Amino acid sequence: MLGLIGGTGIYDPEMFEDTRVEAVPTPYGEVPEVFIGRVGDREVAFLPRHGRDHSVPPHRVNYRANIAALKRLGVERVISTNSVGAINREMRPGDVVIPDDFVDFTRGRPSSFFDHEVVHVDVTDAYCPEVRRPLLAAARKEMDRVFDGGTYVCTEGPRFETPAEIRILGTLGGDIVGMVGVPEVVLAREAEMCYGAICTVTNMAAGISEHRLTATEVVEMVRRNEATLRAVVAEVLEHLPLERGCRCRNALKGARM
Ligand code: HPA
Repeated sequence: MLGLIGGTGIYDPEMFEDTRVEAVPTPYGEVPEVFIGRVGDREVAFLPRHGRDHSVPPHRVNYRANIAALKRLGVERVISTNSVGAINREMRPGDVVIPDDFVDFTRGRPSSFFDHEVVHVDVTDAYCPEVRRPLLAAARKEMDRVFDGGTYVCTEGPRFETPAEIRILGTLGGDIVGMVGVPEVVLAREAEMCYGAICTVTNMAAGISEHRLTATEVVEMVRRNEATLRAVVAEVLEHLPLERGCRCRNALKGARM
């Protein structure tokens, strides 16, 4: 089964056929609504990250429960959709980035399944190359401006960043900034799942943008891109290879002390 974690603007399970809802209990709490449906002949578990009514803010998302629920349902590969601000000035609102690395500036989020044993997973290829490839191909087919690779910086939120923070994050090599990508990507690796993200640039980051940032502009840009984003997601879900040839499935090999 494939997993889709939908970010801002992607809440609607109507994009799948024969959808049913399941509540999935996990050791980290219950995930009240996972929608299980089909795209073509593939079964997909769809989880709206912020809840269907968008009531869960980024710093309060139960990332561990979400990933544990997908794992429990038998999901091996996850596609995630995120909205981001652009730090890299070559990018602009409406563009899409398929990130290939991240920097973690979150604070105090529970970000590991391993609190009682010493486990260090490798995140050299944090975003699975086998998922990135079809994601990139699908995005290029449906969209004009798609960036192959980019470093996603995750901030704690829920406030936007300051201009000084964005200058620092840019100096450190960040291309895009968001509030939800970490620890989701890390937990997927700890669960030996493949994970790929498609990031929609909704705004230039603080201090680069010529105006003050609003949540409204983020939502409006996502809405504008929603139909194409759905087409990309549907296409990827249909074309991901069935067998996994990557290293994600053995992520815990050699990781325990
Ligand atoms: N910063 C953090 N998260 C975001 C932004 C931003 O500028 N835009 C969309 N999500």
